[in-house]
Amino acid sequence: MAGEKLYEGKAKIIYTTDDSAVLLTYFKDDATAFNAQKRGQIADKGKINCAISTYLFQQLEAAGVPTHWLETTSDREMRVKALTIIPLEVVVRNIAAGSLCRQTGLPLGQVINPPLVEFYYKNDDLGDPLLTPDRMRLMALATEEQIETLRRQAEHINQILTAFFASCAITLVDFKLEFGLDADQRILLGDEISPDTCRLWDQSTQDETQRVMDKDRFRQDLGQVEQAYQRVLERVMAQASQH
Ligand code: TMP
Repeated sequence: MAGEKLYEGKAKIIYTTDDSAVLLTYFKDDATAFNAQKRGQIADKGKINCAISTYLFQQLEAAGVPTHWLETTSDREMRVKALTIIPLEVVVRNIAAGSLCRQTGLPLGQVINPPLVEFYYKNDDLGDPLLTPDRMRLMALATEEQIETLRRQAEHINQILTAFFASCAITLVDFKLEFGLDADQRILLGDEISPDTCRLWDQSTQDETQRVMDKDRFRQDLGQVEQAYQRVLERVMAQASQH
């Protein structure tokens, strides 16, 4: 049972429940980009992202990655463990795209090996700036030990997700993770893992526009946004049914 609305974000609403250690996450169809300067809706995105996130959280849990996921209770809602969110966006990059290309001049599509793990400050007013280890220390956003744990978890998650998406004929280009602390100060993976938070390229085409199966279709007005999200879901579910 949903209680009070605790927080409404750009893509999800968080409600309290009758258990203070548990929250309810509701996945909306709203989409934003460029720090909410661009706004829109993607039909059924909430349902698609809820289903994809559910499956990926289950896979990660099975591989020993602790996550906030407890139970998916409807086609847009999941019960999650209440976390104190660490205000960092942890981005893992396997292939150069997006802000990395804009900021470094690396060509789109260049393979990055070993993968890059980056930390951004989760702060909309500041536009989520890229942090350095010294800045993280200065700002006391997390301890050195916590940052090492985040890096190791992100690398482990990348290995699991890269292999899984490859089995769906999808290249995991990059993605963003958020973590939080539970009541025992344990670091758990939070938020969602979906075409909103990952760059996913269809391996069946090399065409730079056609291959995009993620929120870049919305960011860059490439069209066929719903269809791309739906195709990701279909491929994930086809794999899921084989296990
Ligand atoms: P970037 O190239 O724009 O820095 O994005 C890197 C990855 O992080 C990409 O998969 C999209 C994801 N991302 C989010 O999930 N939320 C955000 O606010 C941003 C900027 C990126």
